[in-house]
Amino acid sequence: MSSDDVVTIPDTMRAAVLRDHATGLSLETIRTPRPQAGEVLVKVAACGLCHSDLHVIGGAIAFPLPAVLGHEVTGTIVELGPGTEHTGLALGQQVAGAFLMPCGQCPACSAGRDELCGPFFDLNRLKGQLYDGTTRLAGLDGEPIAMYSMGGLAQYAVIPATSVAPVPESIDLVPAAILGCAAMTGYGAVRRGADLRFGETVAVVATGGVGTNIVQIARAFGASQVIAIDVSDDKLAPMLDYGATAVVNSSTQDARQEVLRLTGGKGVDVSFEALGIPATWTTALDVLADGGRMVPIGLGAGVQTAGVEINRTVRRSQSILGSYGARTRQDLPAVVGLAAQGVINYRDVVSRRLPLAEAAAGYEALRNREIQGRAVVDMSL
Ligand SMILES: NC(=O)c1ccc[n+]([C@@H]2O[C@H](COP(=O)([O-])OP(=O)(O)OC[C@H]3O[C@@H](n4cnc5c(N)ncnc54)[C@H](O)[C@@H]3O)[C@@H](O)[C@H]2O)c1
Ligand SMILES: [Zn+2]
Ligand SMILES: [Zn+2]
Repeated sequence: MSSDDVVTIPDTMRAAVLRDHATGLSLETIRTPRPQAGEVLVKVAACGLCHSDLHVIGGAIAFPLPAVLGHEVTGTIVELGPGTEHTGLALGQQVAGAFLMPCGQCPACSAGRDELCGPFFDLNRLKGQLYDGTTRLAGLDGEPIAMYSMGGLAQYAVIPATSVAPVPESIDLVPAAILGCAAMTGYGAVRRGADLRFGETVAVVATGGVGTNIVQIARAFGASQVIAIDVSDDKLAPMLDYGATAVVNSSTQDARQEVLRLTGGKGVDVSFEALGIPATWTTALDVLADGGRMVPIGLGAGVQTAGVEINRTVRRSQSILGSYGARTRQDLPAVVGLAAQGVINYRDVVSRRLPLAEAAAGYEALRNREIQGRAVVDMSL
């Protein structure tokens, strides 16, 4: 990119805006956001379509409207806000942006627990704002528009400098959009939630965009067995290529019996749950060994509960270890590094590329379970 391109930031941009749940996303021209202190402006190259956005689009998870969704992006830094001098970030730098955007200042952030950042939940997840209590997005008439994470389904996005990681030139920027949520969440689940050890046995229940990444990262971290479980043969078919040692279709097979058979009657040391419905919790707990860890990462559609068999959990000393995202400042650069080394196969996970104008159709396909791996919006289309 030449320095001329870097400084030319248009006053307006195209964004997929959610105004009401019945209408869904529509393409609008809104004001281009500008970074404040500690923030960068990224010209978005691509933004992945994650199941979490579906909960917001459908209204199952409350979020202020109007809003711009989209929370896993890659792009190029085109402006640096004040107070970013020591970040090592530079104009023209290619970056990946993480959905979980730590403020960097609260007690949780100070303890390195980015995933527990108070202002992220209180201001961004509840109010669609950044950490000065305002949103960077506005309509042409100045009407504020909420940002879900950075509001990545737009040509430009303001992201806290804490939440971007440089991406080497060797990385293919469009499919790399999945690094900031699907891959980082998979890494967080394996490295932080489960603290997986070499040789342990693993099951992954629901092998969509996030589950696929858990499969490959668990294998890379030394799992001796990775059993992929889903209700769709289409979703399961490529899992062996990502490192699964067996696949089980829980709609046609008894998942517990199959996993016991595959593990010498023991069950798995770690089961990951990657959908967030009672049925997948049941499966994940059913396949767990004595002393095992169940790591749920799927989000429920609003307030939801799942059944846990009390005595089995107690007598078998099983643990349930929720895992949200990862420790962005430490883990996003690690995820980018694993992708650059070829350990995380991010390219093949992306099965569909859409123009921004077709984002709504992309989410509809995701809702209808038609998307293998991930679909991403490619801003160049
Ligand atoms: N904890 C986090 O940090 C975090 C981050 C991102 C996404 N999420 C959540 O993770 C979940 C998965 O997101 P995604 O984008 O991978 O979704 P996705 O739509 O890509 O995948 C869902 C998968 O579930 C499978 N499935 C459906 N019913 C099933 C059942 N009964 N048993 C087993 N498999 C079943 C589908 O076939 C599909 O493969 C969502 O709840 C999302 O909100 C959580
Ligand atoms: Zn996501
Ligand atoms: Zn914080």
